Amino acid sequence: MRTLVIIPTYDERESLPVTLGRLRAAVPDVDVLVVDDASPDGTGAWADEAAATDPQVHVLHRQGKGGLGAAYVAGFAWGLERGYDVLCEMDADGSHRPEELVRLLERSAAPDAPGLVIGSRWVPGGEVVNWPRHRLLLSRGGNTYVRLALGIGVKDATGGYRAFRAATLRALDLPTVESHGYCFQVDMTWRVLRGGGTVAEVPITFVERTAGVSKMSRGIVVEALTKVTRWGAAHRWAQLRGRERRGVATRA
Ligand code: GDD
Ligand code: MN
Repeated sequence: MRTLVIIPTYDERESLPVTLGRLRAAVPDVDVLVVDDASPDGTGAWADEAAATDPQVHVLHRQGKGGLGAAYVAGFAWGLERGYDVLCEMDADGSHRPEELVRLLERSAAPDAPGLVIGSRWVPGGEVVNWPRHRLLLSRGGNTYVRLALGIGVKDATGGYRAFRAATLRALDLPTVESHGYCFQVDMTWRVLRGGGTVAEVPITFVERTAGVSKMSRGIVVEALTKVTRWGAAHRWAQLRGRERRGVATRA
């Protein structure tokens, strides 16, 4: 199994060296791709230096800040072209503890492996350390809304610590994914499930960053809310029409 961990970065000059060091130590076999959006603080240049001394570290430079979703889509394409079997998402800021990756990978390599494994904060055993109350409420509320609106069982559909099977990603039509931030994570989850794929959650401890700042914004929350509502409504509508058609058929 060849595994690639994709780390999107925007101004993570302080965090990336620590996270990358921990990742390389925790799972030495996996390759890493840093996707940097021309960070003004020089994160991309630092990543180039790291790549120059470590053949398992690669860097993809993008023109400017294009959002978390676009960075991952570019990273997935890079990894699929190079034949990786499992492609992972991980934040650069240390929130996703590299030491827990092996648990996601074990689940992803099982004989009955799900197409997507999510490192989950909201299943038994999962937790969040050092998050302010408003972020906790947003995440719990957001995930409850997603579950109800889409009618899915996933507890942490917005979580960004993930392992995808390559075949699952290939089936998703990645170039059409336009969502950013949290919405990107929900979009990917929803696409996997709608395509008939399976999603599993393994508990993680999410630790709030100690350096740098979050790039999540109000716009990202609004985007998630509107799109999830639209997807849910479209899905319910399709279900209703399907049921109507089946009803007609049984009566005839
Ligand atoms: N290349 C690139 N471009 N990277 C970006 C961009 C961008 O425009 N925006 C954010 N990132 C990178 C950050 O540098 C970091 O490595 C990672 O994406 C996550 O960004 P944060 O700003 O730390 O996000 P967060 O902690 O608020 O959100 C996390 O939790 C959410 C769920 O609560 C992420 O894991 C989200 O994906 C997740 O939905
Ligand atoms: Mn973060």
